[in-house]
Amino acid sequence: MNSRSESAGVRLATDRLRLRPGRVGDAVVHRELWAERDPRVPPHRRIDADGRPTLRDLEDSLRSGPQASGLGLLAVELRDDGRTVGYCGLVEGGPGSAALDGQPPGPEIAFELLSRAQGQGYATEAARAVVEWSRREGLERLHATVWSWNSPSLRVLEKLGFEETARTSPDGASGDMVVVTLEL
Ligand SMILES: CC(C)(COP(=O)(O)OP(=O)(O)OC[C@H]1O[C@@H](n2cnc3c(N)ncnc32)[C@H](O)[C@@H]1OP(=O)(O)O)[C@@H](O)C(=O)NCCC(=O)NCCS
Repeated sequence: MNSRSESAGVRLATDRLRLRPGRVGDAVVHRELWAERDPRVPPHRRIDADGRPTLRDLEDSLRSGPQASGLGLLAVELRDDGRTVGYCGLVEGGPGSAALDGQPPGPEIAFELLSRAQGQGYATEAARAVVEWSRREGLERLHATVWSWNSPSLRVLEKLGFEETARTSPDGASGDMVVVTLEL
């Protein structure tokens, strides 16, 4: 597939990246992301002993389509060659929302990249585009929930101006979860 057809439906673009709605063909990348996850990530977010989620499972969940409103989670592709390297976007709810009692948490920003695409500033570039979109849309606040051991993710959020607001321990085995927020 050439880069022109890869760009169909682009929601956000940066110097090096395009962010577009997910499609069934992204399941291969999602399976790789699942397979690469750190062993400290809770088991329900890693591939189990039976090999689930399978490629077919992930295709089925992508087939259910983008969410009706809001930005949702977008596939991140490289403008250079059209390759999909992960996702970045916004989700409603999430575990951090409950920890922020008293203030509306806003959507949660989330991102994940294939290991071979890491260390080049792509996550920061993609997440910055999502933050800028949120400002343009008039959102008041974003939040993110990150395991305290996840230094690269915390650093990305710090670079974007997020600050620690709360800590929870939803799963004793995986350590603390840091909730960070950004006032827009
Ligand atoms: C978090 C993640 C998306 C970052 O992607 P990335 O494209 O490599 O991020 P960037 O290059 O934009 O920025 C990473 C920053 O973390 C820093 N970093 C990387 N490894 C680090 C470590 N072990 N300790 C401290 N900082 C680290 C980098 O130096 C960089 O900061 P800098 O620009 O000040 O040098 C990627 O590591 C990933 O997908 N991880 C697994 C999934 C995940 O954790 N998702 C987030 C869940 S909330």
